[in-house]
Amino acid sequence: MTTSVGAGKDVQDHKRGEFPGGAELFRLDPAVAHLNHGSFGAVPLPVAEAQRRLTEEVMADPDAFFVGVPDRIAEARGRVAAHLGGDPDGIAFVANATEAANLALDALRLDPGDEILVTDHGYGTVVAAAARRARTAVVSLDPDLPDEDAVSEAVLAALTPRTRVALLDGITSPTARPLATPRLLAGLRERGITTVVDGAHAPGMLAEPLAGEPDFWFGNLHKWAYAPAGSAVLAVAPAHRARVAAPVPSWEDDRGFPRAVEFRATVDYTGWLAAPEGLDLIARLGAGQVRAHNAELVRYGAELLERIPGVTSLPYGEGLAMRSLRLPAGLARTKQEAAALREEIAARLGCRVLIWNRPGGGGIRISGQIYNRPEEYERLTAGLRDLLSRG
Ligand SMILES: Cc1ncc(COP(=O)(O)O)c(C=O)c1O
Repeated sequence: MTTSVGAGKDVQDHKRGEFPGGAELFRLDPAVAHLNHGSFGAVPLPVAEAQRRLTEEVMADPDAFFVGVPDRIAEARGRVAAHLGGDPDGIAFVANATEAANLALDALRLDPGDEILVTDHGYGTVVAAAARRARTAVVSLDPDLPDEDAVSEAVLAALTPRTRVALLDGITSPTARPLATPRLLAGLRERGITTVVDGAHAPGMLAEPLAGEPDFWFGNLHKWAYAPAGSAVLAVAPAHRARVAAPVPSWEDDRGFPRAVEFRATVDYTGWLAAPEGLDLIARLGAGQVRAHNAELVRYGAELLERIPGVTSLPYGEGLAMRSLRLPAGLARTKQEAAALREEIAARLGCRVLIWNRPGGGGIRISGQIYNRPEEYERLTAGLRDLLSRG
């Protein structure tokens, strides 16, 4: 995947760009333009139906369900691993990316004084997990860095003799850019750095979500892989598996990774068991077609937004289903300002987007998904232009 500044085909090409039957697969409120799939995902009806059937099973015979559930989790894990291209013995179901980050960081051997390198694009709860366990060195990445090489250089230049671990996003949340590329991971490995990749957005969005052989990698299934909320996976390289411990011991504790990590006594496992249905659905729709549709749609959306005075493009990852643009200077400088603008856009325009903050001025992130239509980006653009011109 290459990173480049927006190319710019004719916007009109994509006026009618709908994914056939895409919107009908979801029960999203048609009054709202859901242009923020990247934050919480959305569950398609076939996946919700699979989960409902599992819930019926639990209700009908809880004893049978819970006695057999560890093996069914293993089977579901195998199906997910096959879709992601990972080793089924090296992947564990977890609740979400935040939990996965904590489990991974607990498995590290850190001495007093060791540092974890993070970036100022890292997701808040994930960076907080690192800061709770060690001193963090925060690399500030200019969103305008032109390409992946420049990003890699900035990260490698920030290593110090105390850096033991690099905790990096696969795709950054605010700016939607590839960060932990195979090349950067190789560079870190050469320098003896343990790599932890936050691939929250990778499953369902990237063709090879696990590329680059990081030591630890985690990804949400409930974002782009269409799984119910609370579905994520943590992949661990063989050398580290024995050190990944469940936060709470369960009856599966003596089974080691991954069973010990994922089993957590009597809880609702229906989301994990239904999770492979989401990836199966993407495969049935055609993963390549879904990716191409989503990428084209956000490209169209970004080209429209760029026409608003003061909104400017940022370098982006080719073929991704999210794009970020910079807002006029002085807007969304703080978390509070960003949240206020996000809610104003929701209330006035009926559009869900992500607004990210940065000192001096933040930006807007849009997503593309098979339920989205070009008209929704047109509505956002017209409304935002109006909103910003009124100050
Ligand atoms: C890069 C990144 N990491 C982690 C998370 C947190 O995900 P979760 O709330 O599922 O733990 C997000 C959520 O948007 C994210 O974008």
